Amino acid sequence: MKYPIILFLIAILCVQCMTTSKPIPEKQYGLITEKAMVVSAREEASKIGVEIMKQGGNAFDAMIATDLALLVSYPSAGNIGGGGFMVYRQKDGTIGALDYREKAPLAATKNMYLDAHGNVDSDKSQIGALAVGVPGTIAGLFEVHEKFGTLPFEKLIAPAIRLAEYGVVVTEKQAQNLNDHTNDFKVANKRTIVLDKVWKKEDTIKYPKLTQTLKRIQANGRGEFYKGETANLIVDYVQNLGGIITKEDLASYEVKWRNPVTFEYKNHRIISMPPPSSGGICVAQILKSIEPYDIEQYAHNSIQYMQVITEAERRAYADRSYFLGDPDFVTIPTDSLTSKTYLSRRMASFDWKQATMSSELSRGVFPGYESTETTHYSIVDQFGNSVAVTTTLNSSYGSKVYVEKGGFFLNNEMDDFSAKPGAPNVYGLVGAEANAIAPQKRMLSSMSPTIVEKDGQLKMVLGSPGGSTIITSVIQNILNVLEYDMTMQESVSKPRFHHQWLPDSIKVETSFDTLNFPSLKKLGYNIDQSNTPIIGKVDAILVLPDGRLEGGADPRGDDSADGF
Ligand code: DON
Repeated sequence: MKYPIILFLIAILCVQCMTTSKPIPEKQYGLITEKAMVVSAREEASKIGVEIMKQGGNAFDAMIATDLALLVSYPSAGNIGGGGFMVYRQKDGTIGALDYREKAPLAATKNMYLDAHGNVDSDKSQIGALAVGVPGTIAGLFEVHEKFGTLPFEKLIAPAIRLAEYGVVVTEKQAQNLNDHTNDFKVANKRTIVLDKVWKKEDTIKYPKLTQTLKRIQANGRGEFYKGETANLIVDYVQNLGGIITKEDLASYEVKWRNPVTFEYKNHRIISMPPPSSGGICVAQILKSIEPYDIEQYAHNSIQYMQVITEAERRAYADRSYFLGDPDFVTIPTDSLTSKTYLSRRMASFDWKQATMSSELSRGVFPGYESTETTHYSIVDQFGNSVAVTTTLNSSYGSKVYVEKGGFFLNNEMDDFSAKPGAPNVYGLVGAEANAIAPQKRMLSSMSPTIVEKDGQLKMVLGSPGGSTIITSVIQNILNVLEYDMTMQESVSKPRFHHQWLPDSIKVETSFDTLNFPSLKKLGYNIDQSNTPIIGKVDAILVLPDGRLEGGADPRGDDSADGF
């Protein structure tokens, strides 16, 4: 007789539970595939990369085809006239990183952007021919092909040629972006260029000159860009506009293989880009600074969560500005900067009751240091190889200089140097001697293509554009998945925030919940919601527990996942 009563009570309890407790929201997944995936800024590029893998190509073949497709379909950032970084992990767990970052021209000088009064003329470092660094992308793609490619280069470039020849259909966001930049194009080229028209959704852009350039590269290889007709077109055009890039600059450009920055975060191994990107070191500093805290106990984007992350970010960016630069020119104390002891000492001044003032914080100090002073895509293939690539012209459409006869934009990466100690660049980043301009030096970057492993297995591939906000976008997505168990799509879609030491404010996206702002302000944090509709655009792949792949394509752009 007892049992029916107990069952009755349980039934009442269950009904109560169903009516009073909040339903658990269902997880929102992105595209899920069995074996292989590309997530990039454009649907065409993702599809082209996937098609290459369906034909038997590996992740590196797909990387080359995707990159070339992006330079046609996403000319604001995808590029032939820029540079980038790749972090990779092969199926056997071997890791590495390729640096095909732009370099300062041989005629570059430390004070080349200072006016007669010693002030930075940021127009010169940001728009026009003097802003252009020696491009590295084509050298990077050929290097990847030589080391890891399995399909012929001619085949990998063919889809991009078709895209350029037959045209790319303009999306609404792209039309808006092109229209927003019309005046910049005029300034950079001193006159109207081919893109000077009002664009609308569903228009088609054909690139006849770019088609020819890509065909010449298909026929003549790497040398076409660095020593051939394309090199001549670049040098003539840039020099006519007052730039300083010479044939010697192009002919002497070299990529560098680098050892990734690797570190542990709560039983995961994070693999990211080393200098000349600040990405890996800053991601390591921030995550290792917050590792002692039980992050998941704070609600996502809550006051405490924002405090601890902001304070770690503030300290990392202060170090970035002083210590980091091109490792071929300056000695970087990577081990000290990322050591547990140093970082816990650095966080010791963090006070839950009061924001640290950036004005009272500078770079850290440790013994033994002698001062000497963007689009991202993620790919996993059917063999288990993975690549994370972030590539950039710096600003949207770079220097806005469009090599007319070649059909492409050139970067304005020179602005990533510190033109003068303490003077902010386009991202508000300040730097010092370590990132001063010198001939053939690479400018410091924030690009952070990153791979995460768990128990020796691939777990996540991610990265973002967004200048200085790349680092903080990457760490928030790592935390979203590792600490808050979000799906990859939920993670990339969440609102983000960012602090970079100077200026001393937390930038938040316009979609960010304002509820906690009064409390944060009381604690001494400045909140900046102006001018930041979005922070980063993260394209990522997560390996699900059953081995399938989930794509996170950032809804802030036209980003798209594809796979099989
Ligand atoms: O290398 C860097 O850090 C910058 N040039 C990246 C620029 C960037 O992400 C632009 N994207 N929105």
